Amino acid sequence: MNHFDYKNGELHAEDVALSAIAAEIGTPFYCYSTATLERHYRVFSEAMQKDALVAFSVKANGNLAVLKTLASLGAGADVVSGGELKRALAAGIPGEKIVFSGVGKTKAEMALGLKNRIYQFNVESEVELLALDEVAGALGVKAPVAFRVNPDVDAKTHAKISTGGAETKFGVPWSHVHTAYATAAKLKNIEIVGVDVHIGSQLTDLAPFEAAFTRVVELVGDLRREGHAISRIDLGGGLGVPYRNDNLPPPDPAAYGALAARITKNTGARLIMEPGRLIAANAGVLVAGVIYVKQGENKKFLILDAAMNDLIRPAFYDAYHEIVPVAAPTADTQWTHYDVVGPVCETSDIFAADRPLPVLKSDDKVAILTAGAYGATMSSAYNARPLAAEVLVKGGEWAVVRPRMDDDALFGNDRIPPWLG
Ligand code: LLP
Repeated sequence: MNHFDYKNGELHAEDVALSAIAAEIGTPFYCYSTATLERHYRVFSEAMQKDALVAFSVKANGNLAVLKTLASLGAGADVVSGGELKRALAAGIPGEKIVFSGVGKTKAEMALGLKNRIYQFNVESEVELLALDEVAGALGVKAPVAFRVNPDVDAKTHAKISTGGAETKFGVPWSHVHTAYATAAKLKNIEIVGVDVHIGSQLTDLAPFEAAFTRVVELVGDLRREGHAISRIDLGGGLGVPYRNDNLPPPDPAAYGALAARITKNTGARLIMEPGRLIAANAGVLVAGVIYVKQGENKKFLILDAAMNDLIRPAFYDAYHEIVPVAAPTADTQWTHYDVVGPVCETSDIFAADRPLPVLKSDDKVAILTAGAYGATMSSAYNARPLAAEVLVKGGEWAVVRPRMDDDALFGNDRIPPWLG
């Protein structure tokens, strides 16, 4: 469910025509819908237990306006770097609603988290634990810790976004978990608070969640018997979204919430959830203009002004994104098939192969859908292409929430060494 619809022959974000934004700021740009973000957040949090912490995964979409929109509904944040932590704090998310994940937290990042009294560090190894103990000791505070455990469960998603298998770098290996907790219990500056798990992203089946959550709940029982005070269970993120209109939709948040509640019900623990994609993906589109339509030897290329540097998911994961014209097709519309590509000098700079679309011409606009998560956050300035603008719509209003990168931001930070004059 989202708020991008055709009205009066034009694709709108809520009550704003995307062509009106394009006319004012040019293309490409990301456009996010407040109503969709709010709806997804509400549907998700209402599906969870009342006291659960819903910590939005900032890596999905870290724009301050997006974070502030979610913060105003009560969202917390799941961060994986000092930069994301600063973004969350800058958007008004209090430390007490922030959890810090990731296999390679530096001591400086740990100190930043401790100074801001974050809710929990999801620690992924014993070496990291020792570093955290040292940093907390130097600051004279105790670090609240959950170990992220690796339950060795196959998430049955794309290999590049699967994190719960024993072969991945993520989490404390299952066979080391008990020693990790025993070590933590002996450290003066560490307070054990919970257990954390995250097995992967874009899961379209509940079975891997069920397997992982069940293992974690058994573990919580064992750890408590060993004398550890486990009061929180962080179940991570990972619930998938529909990218294709013609596929079966993934399980809805209500089914996912019910599963989490059923499996954890006798633990008495507070649940933490870290959804990213589910909140943001369908709340954003990437609007691009057609530069040229090029006839190849045996196919037609629709060359857009957006490219893999703006949205890398198709190139990186062979991800499918729906692409629709901004001008609504009519009964008279002529259709054809295009390879939809960008101007970047890489063969993988392709958004879609052999895709049915109306016949289009230079300056026409298209929208690449389900681009609100892992779109702008994964973009780069490759080929010296400025990062795209970002826009947030609310009802009939819209605002640029990140202007297109200018030349100064693009290369103004480069420095010429003295020997080059
Ligand atoms: N928590 C942790 C510890 C994570 O590593 C992630 C995502 C999440 C939560 C949020 O997962 P979500 O609810 O969004 O599935 N760039 C890839 C996705 C990478 C996900 C990495 N971790 C993509 O574009 O598909």
